[in-house]
Amino acid sequence: MFNNAFNGKKVLVTGHTGFKGTWMTIWLQQMGAEVVGISDTIPTDPAHFSAAGLEDTMTTHWLDIRDEEAVPAAIADEAPDFVFHMAAQALVKASYDDPVGTYTTNMVGSANVLEGLRRLDNQCTAIMITSDKCYENVETYYGYREDDRLGGADPYSASKAAAEIIISSHTRSFFGQPDDERNVRIGVVRAGNVVGGGDWAADRLVPDVARSWSVGENVTIRRPQATRPWQHVLEPISGYLHLGAELAQRPELHNEAFNFGPPAEAVNPVRDVVVALKEHLPGLDLTIDESQAHFHEAGLLKLTCDKALSYLQWTPVLDFDETMKISADWFHSFYKDGADGIRAVTDGQLDYYTGLAADRGLSWANS
Ligand SMILES: NC(=O)c1ccc[n+]([C@@H]2O[C@H](COP(=O)([O-])OP(=O)(O)OC[C@H]3O[C@@H](n4cnc5c(N)ncnc54)[C@H](O)[C@@H]3O)[C@@H](O)[C@H]2O)c1
Repeated sequence: MFNNAFNGKKVLVTGHTGFKGTWMTIWLQQMGAEVVGISDTIPTDPAHFSAAGLEDTMTTHWLDIRDEEAVPAAIADEAPDFVFHMAAQALVKASYDDPVGTYTTNMVGSANVLEGLRRLDNQCTAIMITSDKCYENVETYYGYREDDRLGGADPYSASKAAAEIIISSHTRSFFGQPDDERNVRIGVVRAGNVVGGGDWAADRLVPDVARSWSVGENVTIRRPQATRPWQHVLEPISGYLHLGAELAQRPELHNEAFNFGPPAEAVNPVRDVVVALKEHLPGLDLTIDESQAHFHEAGLLKLTCDKALSYLQWTPVLDFDETMKISADWFHSFYKDGADGIRAVTDGQLDYYTGLAADRGLSWANS
């Protein structure tokens, strides 16, 4: 898998205690990487990070990513072969409550990681995770491409667009051209909302449904016709890992950005999601309120992923039903069988995902 790029390598993951970071850490450990992390806290309770026992299997630097002394110093000390930077204030709603905290975490945090990379003497490949929300939403029906205009109407989106500009500036100012003597290669990745086991962030549909189901509470869906692209968390992570492995081998990928999104047709209404979840969360007390059928929905932000296909032969693996099934199954196991067995469930879902990817001909899974 991934040309065995991570086996025996040191990989630094920022935001490793969060939703995506925990899945990425476990996947990297499965592939034989030594993973070290930088995070300020464990952001939720419960948390996949704690339930999977990661605290005992890795080194964590408990740091605020905004610390401009300690973060670059930790990166320089660790001298990693790969960096995946995903520590962020990741929620749009929270960004309205704390816009400046969101700006500093997402912009200055990214700059601090880049400053750490500048101190390295060893070869290192760094993947900087931003968001689909870095694109100015011009309410078009077309999917956004990597060279579309950046911007943001809310503090979170603006912080991610600004992080992009900082990453691009730092890359061009300090990491030169691919054939430079510099050893650091940078890639930028943009994905949209993801679902899956282990997500306990506030105000997200799948965790909210699972939490209510676990205590027998009713779930009422008020805007069942609202549509979103739905993607399992392992899909963009496969893209991040694949880009990292390829960039380490292919200098021409330096300073390129890639979208990793679901297929264009995988845009389903919320109604489909809860109906699919109910199939796998038996007894879910669900009310679908169709009374607000005619509300205006802001133009959907979709990604065009032709560049990832063309440069990396990357495509998503799971269809909508598979995505919902494994998301619901994970929460079912967590709430019914307890946290103790969850690492085995996570490992099993990773095996299932990589097995399907291999069967479906994904190059990263067969290399
Ligand atoms: N989850 C999604 O749907 C989604 C969609 C698009 C982009 N992203 C991006 O992917 C990345 C990971 O998202 P996630 O859903 O796993 O987020 P998350 O909120 O679950 O995790 C965020 C991580 O960052 C850490 N962190 C936050 N503030 C910090 C600070 N000041 N100092 C140090 N660490 C800090 C947290 O401790 C945690 O480990 C983020 O950059 C996010 O913006 C996520």
